[in-house]
Amino acid sequence: MALCLFIAAFGWTTAPISHAQNTPAQEELPPEPPLGLDDVPVPDDNPMTRPKIELGRMLYFEKRYSGDGKVSCATCHMPRRGFSNARQYGTGFDGRLTLRNVPTVINAAYNETHFWDGRAASLEDQARGPILHPSEMASSEERIIRTLGAIPEYRARFKEAFGSPGVSLERVVQAIATFERTLLSGNSPFDRWKYGGDKSALSPRAIRGFEVFRSKGNCVKCHLVDEFSAPFTDDKFHNLGVGMDKKPLQLGREVITKKKKDRGKFKTPTLRHITQTAPYMHDGRFATLEEVVDFYEEGGHPNPHLDPDMKPLKLTKTEKADLIAFMGALTGDLPEVKAPELPK
Ligand code: HEC
Ligand code: HEC
Repeated sequence: MALCLFIAAFGWTTAPISHAQNTPAQEELPPEPPLGLDDVPVPDDNPMTRPKIELGRMLYFEKRYSGDGKVSCATCHMPRRGFSNARQYGTGFDGRLTLRNVPTVINAAYNETHFWDGRAASLEDQARGPILHPSEMASSEERIIRTLGAIPEYRARFKEAFGSPGVSLERVVQAIATFERTLLSGNSPFDRWKYGGDKSALSPRAIRGFEVFRSKGNCVKCHLVDEFSAPFTDDKFHNLGVGMDKKPLQLGREVITKKKKDRGKFKTPTLRHITQTAPYMHDGRFATLEEVVDFYEEGGHPNPHLDPDMKPLKLTKTEKADLIAFMGALTGDLPEVKAPELPK
């Protein structure tokens, strides 16, 4: 309802801009989620509209507002690399490396907190981070206004999306977050098997792998599979010992909460599209899923703060291979995202 009013209020103000994906104003947003996912949460103060999604898509690929004009979100979160970058770290402004591995943005719309240490509470809040960070996009609100505000088509698109042509950091992050709420992946072979009643969607090996994932491996304890949907994360923080073997120690969540009980904890990542987003863990230390499974088999890295759910697993060779086959069945349908033609 609020959405209809929003469109009704601002629809008439727009100069007609032709979109490849132009859709009728009565279109329901957000759309039905794919099989295996819940409804996408959308904040009241940033309703989802088609013009905002399209603007967000452009700003996701737009490099001109970054500090050196060479970095965009897509530089590190690349659509053809499972929205990560296939490297241990990201490379941003002036070739600087990020301190952590690039997580996927697929299904980030569902995260209760963002970043490996959960320091951002919303997608809007999150997007400010890389835009302003000196080793990511190294931009500023002043630079955003100067670069984007000088391009007439952007002014028209901001007007269409927000009701007036003003460019601001707030509007940029709202549009990008709205676009990110469309980057959903469900309907994987696993979802079709588990939620869609298609008993042939999973191979026997992957079905056995799911059994290991649920029982002996105890993976579901943190990578949740619910009755009607499977986020593959609990949105919580755990110490697996990753980074507790480094100097200086990687304190993770403790830096944010200042609580010792959070020492060495990092956020459980989703496992959707996991075969496309190597290397793994917050420091990108493992090149393959085999290495990840070996790490769990040993019960993680011992340290005084190790999560009580981390115990040596004693998996057989077949069980390990099954588990990996199962993780290979978590890649689903993603909307095809190509770099759009950007305003001149
Ligand atoms: C230079 C590489 C780089 C660029 C550019 C970049 N990111 Fe990231 N992104 C990262 C890294 C690295 C992290 C993890 C950082 C951390 O947790 O401390 C991250 C984390 C995220 C997360 C959190 C995901 C989760 O599961 O917690 C989202 C969402 C995200 N980025 C979106 C964006 C958007 C939107 C942009 C553009 C405005 C962007 N990123 C630009 C490297 C980059
Ligand atoms: C105690 C909670 C917990 C359990 C149990 C658990 N995980 Fe994890 N998983 C995590 C956390 C937290 C991370 C990120 C750790 C880090 O980077 O420091 C992670 C990371 C991963 C990654 C890497 C993801 C990426 O994008 O880098 C994979 C793959 C994975 N887990 C698979 C499994 C499998 C398979 C099992 C069962 C054998 C399992 N997990 C059991 C919490 C858990």
